[in-house]
Amino acid sequence: MRSHYCGEVTAKVLDLDVTIVGWVHRRRDHGGVIFLDMRDREGLVQVVFHPENKAAFQIAESVRNEYVLQIKGRVGRRPDGTVNKDLKTGEIEIVADTVTILNRAETTPFPIDEYHDVGEETRLRYRYLDLRRPEMLNRMKLRAHITRYLRRYLDDNGFMDIETPFLTKATPEGARDYLVPSRTKPGSFYALPQSPQQFKQLLMMAGMDRYYQVVRCFRDEDLRADRQPEFTQLDIETSFLDELEIQGMMEVMVRGMFKEILNVDLPNPFPRMSYAEAMKRFGSDKPDLRIPLELVDVADLLKDVEFKVFSGPANDPSSRVVALHVPGGADISRKEIDDYTKFIGNFGAKGLAYIKINGEGIEGLASPILKFIPEDAIKQILERTNAKVGDIVFFGADKTDTVNESLGALRIKLGHDRKLVQEGWRPLWVIDFPMFEKGEGRLSACHHPFTAPQINEISDLQKDPIKILARAYDMALNGSEIGGGSIRINTPELQMAVFNALNISEEDANEKFGHLLTALKFGCPPHGGIAFGIDRLAMLMTGSSSIRDVIAFPKTQTATCPLTDAPSSVDPAQLLELGIRVIKPAEGEKSSAKVKEDVIK
Ligand code: AMO
Ligand code: AMP
Repeated sequence: MRSHYCGEVTAKVLDLDVTIVGWVHRRRDHGGVIFLDMRDREGLVQVVFHPENKAAFQIAESVRNEYVLQIKGRVGRRPDGTVNKDLKTGEIEIVADTVTILNRAETTPFPIDEYHDVGEETRLRYRYLDLRRPEMLNRMKLRAHITRYLRRYLDDNGFMDIETPFLTKATPEGARDYLVPSRTKPGSFYALPQSPQQFKQLLMMAGMDRYYQVVRCFRDEDLRADRQPEFTQLDIETSFLDELEIQGMMEVMVRGMFKEILNVDLPNPFPRMSYAEAMKRFGSDKPDLRIPLELVDVADLLKDVEFKVFSGPANDPSSRVVALHVPGGADISRKEIDDYTKFIGNFGAKGLAYIKINGEGIEGLASPILKFIPEDAIKQILERTNAKVGDIVFFGADKTDTVNESLGALRIKLGHDRKLVQEGWRPLWVIDFPMFEKGEGRLSACHHPFTAPQINEISDLQKDPIKILARAYDMALNGSEIGGGSIRINTPELQMAVFNALNISEEDANEKFGHLLTALKFGCPPHGGIAFGIDRLAMLMTGSSSIRDVIAFPKTQTATCPLTDAPSSVDPAQLLELGIRVIKPAEGEKSSAKVKEDVIK
């Protein structure tokens, strides 16, 4: 139906006859002449209709925005003074010969352009219109370029693209499972995979050597701007490569991708930082290195002060007292400090002490805590943080997790508010993660339970599990975790010992992971891998603030789809077939806990 995409009709085809198809982006009537901006995937082109061509002119008069047209015409140079430098097709226009209306359109709920701020709910309800907007279209194009590049790299490096099941058994990645009821085995459920973790390991045991898959993962967890209940991973597994070899290859891949798509040179090699150092200096395992602010430990200087808020945590091994120095921050107002205090309150912090350095000497300091802290300690704190006149130093004192979370978040917020974020891309590897973390009274795996620990003997697992490090690594970029992986356990004995450390009984382990434990007995190669979050990568590379903006049909914060109205109730006959009875919470008063109680009864 077409000879050229609208966006491709440039001066190169001057004086030629072309046929375009597309949507009416805008119509302008100019004293007897009609201009239509026609739009398709590749851009806009101007078509001009002269009244002498009566048939075409009459149709052009009747069309409205978003009508779908086929137009034949000749490409001419635009008259002097009407050239549009911002447009690829801005030097030319098509002089219409014939026009056919392929379809009509009602008035759209919002205009299809880049400039209109439309509520997200409306955008998602009419996502197919939202995606017509050039801004969204460009994001989709860049995302497709990402997966195209990654597939090409992996294909060229001996990786095999292999699919793994969606209807499967739970594989733990720390979130709730999405369950799918079985009709053939009533009362039984498949789980949608939180990742293909176990299958990709089984593929290594099957001798595939190098695997990849661009694959959907499903996690029923609390949603945020960088999380979706279904999201896409570039999932990778390799045999006979150690962590440095895997990381090296992944760096080459990511550097190549940034060069090809954004013409950006990432550092070579990426810097590496231990988890312990990242938490200590940035309060985060995915530090944004563009922000030149750091947490500085000052507990040793505050152990004996009378101010209990500080001396308590300073003497508690499970707590931290840190200072966060902000150059030029002395002009931060009382009101702003109150807002920051509220902000970190969301992370459980109980207060935000500070010292402003308004002038030289102790008299130049302004702070609500000066009276509680000896002058000498204050001097040492200012020295250690390198604080100068005109600066401010904030303090966080609490359980280590609370300080890391709250002051880590404050560091980022201050970085943005104070315009301290440096330009550019700052990737890094975070390595030497702990193997376990303390969950509700028992240990849980920091990465996943198939990750190999950094130990010599299996018996080391029993000594002080919380101190054991894992052979796990994350790739972080500008404050986002874009990928994570590890070297895996490759013997049934070590795998069972790790399950035991996680308080999973032998019986439970066999029930849940028997297939993997058995497979490990038949010649399992040393293996390891990684998975990248494609949505997060696309979000960063397009400069979007939410991963919803780089997913064609995303879910809202409450995991619903305004376009299809999913999730929705189903026909009782379907439920009957599945042997399922639904317990509905009564009129908003019954909590899910109460329902749980009733179910257990
Ligand atoms: P992990 O759980 O770290 O590892 O996930 C890998 C990457 O996937 C992305 N990601 C998400 N993106 C959007 N929404 C989510 N809800 C979400 N959850 C995770 C992140 C993350 O870095 N099987 C292991 C990988 C391995 O060990 O090889 C895994 O899934 O960018
Ligand atoms: P208070 O004695 O509670 O009024 O606190 C004095 C100052 O210490 C105030 O500026 C509080 O914001 C701050 N503060 C209170 N608790 C903490 C804490 N856990 N960490 C850091 N500062 C705190």
